[in-house]
Amino acid sequence: MKLLVTGGSGFLGSELVRQASDGGWEVAATYRSRPVEGAVPLDVTDADAVEALVARVRPDVVVHTAYVLSGPALWQITADGAAAVARACERHGARLVHLSSDLVFDGRRGGYTEADPPRPVIVYGEAKAAAERLVTAACPGTLVVRTSLLLDSSLGFGPQEARPLAAARGKLDMGFFSDELRSPVSVRDLAAALLEVGPRRDLAGPLHLAGADTIDRHELARLVCLRHGVDPAPLRAAFAADLPELRPLDCSLDSSRAAALLSTRLRGIREVLVA
Ligand SMILES: NC(=O)c1ccc[n+]([C@@H]2O[C@H](COP(=O)([O-])OP(=O)(O)OC[C@H]3O[C@@H](n4cnc5c(N)ncnc54)[C@H](OP(=O)(O)O)[C@@H]3O)[C@@H](O)[C@H]2O)c1
Repeated sequence: MKLLVTGGSGFLGSELVRQASDGGWEVAATYRSRPVEGAVPLDVTDADAVEALVARVRPDVVVHTAYVLSGPALWQITADGAAAVARACERHGARLVHLSSDLVFDGRRGGYTEADPPRPVIVYGEAKAAAERLVTAACPGTLVVRTSLLLDSSLGFGPQEARPLAAARGKLDMGFFSDELRSPVSVRDLAAALLEVGPRRDLAGPLHLAGADTIDRHELARLVCLRHGVDPAPLRAAFAADLPELRPLDCSLDSSRAAALLSTRLRGIREVLVA
């Protein structure tokens, strides 16, 4: 089986490439600004380049992780870029697994299932919700995987680890929201689950692949510090509800459908970090 990973230089993409290669997949990967050995450069805003790459690689499965969280090119990269990938997949018969986010929800209720309609309240969530609609329209068999905060790569720290450790060591002035609830997941578990669902063309539409625990960001930061032997006492709690702009407060995801469908277990983050 041949796998193409967009965003192979990213936190999830790099773990996915590592696991897929170890698991015997033939792997192709892309980067944008951080060259990675064996990967090819790709800008998803260049639809012709996306088409040419998929035509050349002829992947069985494409996992589309590439995106940006913010900035002037948010919409072009995160929404239109995803659509370009989906069009190329449809044209060349590749199975598409598209990475989406818990932040497509409004955060008023939490425990969101695949049956809940996206209702984004921040610009990033709007771009990811638009991407979901665009990829599904362009490539109807797409599996849209919604996930949450990513930690625990085998390849090094991501922002969810680096920031609490820096803050606890006095190297970063940052508060951690104690009123924002998420379902963080080990990126190792997520990558394994993505490789399991990749070939499953019977699965289409939204699927939630997030950790089993709901936890606030301050508690998560404390657990990260404890895990790495750093005193969490200096960590400052903050409140998202105090911000002038609206921020979704409870975007916890219900991943029980995935738990019933998959053999890969998506551990709760307490189990991941306290183990
Ligand atoms: N991180 C989280 O906590 C989180 C939470 C929920 C959902 N997700 C979803 O999970 C996915 C992966 O997240 P991540 O944290 O692994 O992301 P990441 O580490 O920020 O990596 C993003 C990737 O996208 C690539 N990229 C950026 N602009 C591009 C462009 N114009 N054309 C092609 N590639 C481009 C980057 O390439 P270069 O670095 O080489 O420029 C990088 O490989 C995303 O779709 C995100 O929405 C993440």
